[in-house]
Amino acid sequence: MHSVLDLFPIERNVTRTGACEYEPPASVWFGEDAELIEALLTFYPRKTPRTIVDATVNAGRFWRGSKRSVIGLDIDPRHRPAIVANNTAMPFRDESIEALVYDPPHIPNQGRDRSKDFNTRFGLVLRSSKQNHYTFSHTFPAFTREAYRVLRPEGILLCKITDYVHHHRYQWAHIEFVSAARQAGLMPCDCIIKVRKGPIIDPKWKRAHHSRRQHCYWLIFRKSGKCE
Ligand SMILES: C[S@@+](CC[C@H](N)C(=O)[O-])C[C@H]1O[C@@H](n2cnc3c(N)ncnc32)[C@H](O)[C@@H]1O
Repeated sequence: MHSVLDLFPIERNVTRTGACEYEPPASVWFGEDAELIEALLTFYPRKTPRTIVDATVNAGRFWRGSKRSVIGLDIDPRHRPAIVANNTAMPFRDESIEALVYDPPHIPNQGRDRSKDFNTRFGLVLRSSKQNHYTFSHTFPAFTREAYRVLRPEGILLCKITDYVHHHRYQWAHIEFVSAARQAGLMPCDCIIKVRKGPIIDPKWKRAHHSRRQHCYWLIFRKSGKCE
């Protein structure tokens, strides 16, 4: 079996004198989210972030084994987050957070299909309307504006986002998120493809005329005029 390093060796950036300056994360990631977040939090911030907020913490899977001090926020009190709040109106002062992590719900309404409990597994505390094509993209602008408000200058936002086909349409969630973040004033800086263990398959599909997406994206934004 291949290791991720066999397939996508970490590129070393070597100066003219031969000294290694830094090691960027791989642009395609086969490992766990928790390992990737640690690599992102080490690589992108200009200095070690001390105030880190997970704005959709759920069960806190991203932080298992992490030594970082993270404030978990979620709208659903059943997950017992440190802060129960809506991430479009977070109880933080302006420019007080150095790193924000965001993993919004991405599975839309499942109609009459009760065979999978997406509500419990993916934290769908809201339903989406036909007007919004039963997706959650309409929630991105309010979140990105709030992210801009609470982030310190040069602070970073790490966002896990998944495109999918729903309502007979390809839902370009990652593009809509980049667009919302840009409008809010955040600089889209990088995009890492995370390969999932398997594609999301809706049990309703008898025959799907599209590829089975087996990946999602980790997008990196900076509250800055510059990526680097
Ligand atoms: C996909 S889950 C996050 C999973 C988490 N990253 C993990 O790996 O354990 C999305 C979470 O976002 C929360 N959520 C949805 N809308 C929210 C909002 N407006 N404000 C705060 N949390 C929200 C849900 O309750 C759910 O727990």
